[in-house]
Amino acid sequence: MFKHDLGDGADLRFLEFRHAPEFLAFVLANKDHLGVWLEWGQTIQTLEQAQDFIKRGITRYAEDGLPWVGIWLEGRLVGGILFFPVDRQAKSTMVGYWLGADVGGRGLMSKALLAMLGFVFDDLGLNRLELQAHVENHKSRALAQRLGFQFEGVLREVWMLHAKQVDHAAYAMLRSDWTALQDQAQARAEAELLT
Ligand SMILES: CC(C)(COP(=O)(O)OP(=O)(O)OC[C@H]1O[C@@H](n2cnc3c(N)ncnc32)[C@H](O)[C@@H]1OP(=O)(O)O)[C@@H](O)C(=O)NCCC(=O)NCCS
Repeated sequence: MFKHDLGDGADLRFLEFRHAPEFLAFVLANKDHLGVWLEWGQTIQTLEQAQDFIKRGITRYAEDGLPWVGIWLEGRLVGGILFFPVDRQAKSTMVGYWLGADVGGRGLMSKALLAMLGFVFDDLGLNRLELQAHVENHKSRALAQRLGFQFEGVLREVWMLHAKQVDHAAYAMLRSDWTALQDQAQARAEAELLT
């Protein structure tokens, strides 16, 4: 089983078929929290639908090599990260993510996404990772900015959410941005060692 330790009792694991009951329980328990911004947060209501969601991730992984991962905290499924199909020519894809209502505000998604950014740019060699958030999803937009994604503008009525066309704030990180961020982090760590 793929498992990546994030420290402090958290880890990332491939979302597998056998996780469907736990995933369903998580989605149902967080229906109102997730459903505000994610259509599937409201529409997944049965084991079959949970299995279909996970199956989509497994198919994408087979095609693109980018896994849909769950975030476990102290052995409990509390969130996840998914990827849209990879545009091989542009070496580009888009990321999506979610956390349960009771685990927000502690940097867990920042840490999880940082781990996946390393995989996207360093291991897979993609050049561009896009991130879109509803213009009013301030938590998600703050996360994008905190991680160093560049704001590229507002895409008008680009997405359908609860039967309404909605605007998305578009962010992206390039491989060169990622490398620069890594260099800065290393320089900060070295400066701290000298003080
Ligand atoms: C979007 C979402 C994942 C953001 O979660 P989050 O908890 O705010 O993000 P992080 O895990 O990175 O935590 C950041 C928060 O923890 C705090 N924090 C504490 N320790 C931290 C650390 N070591 N590193 C970073 N942040 C830390 C930050 O100050 C911030 O809190 P604030 O928003 O009160 O300033 C979450 O709100 C969510 O799942 N929402 C519903 C689904 C959704 O909207 N998905 C995205 C669709 S585009």
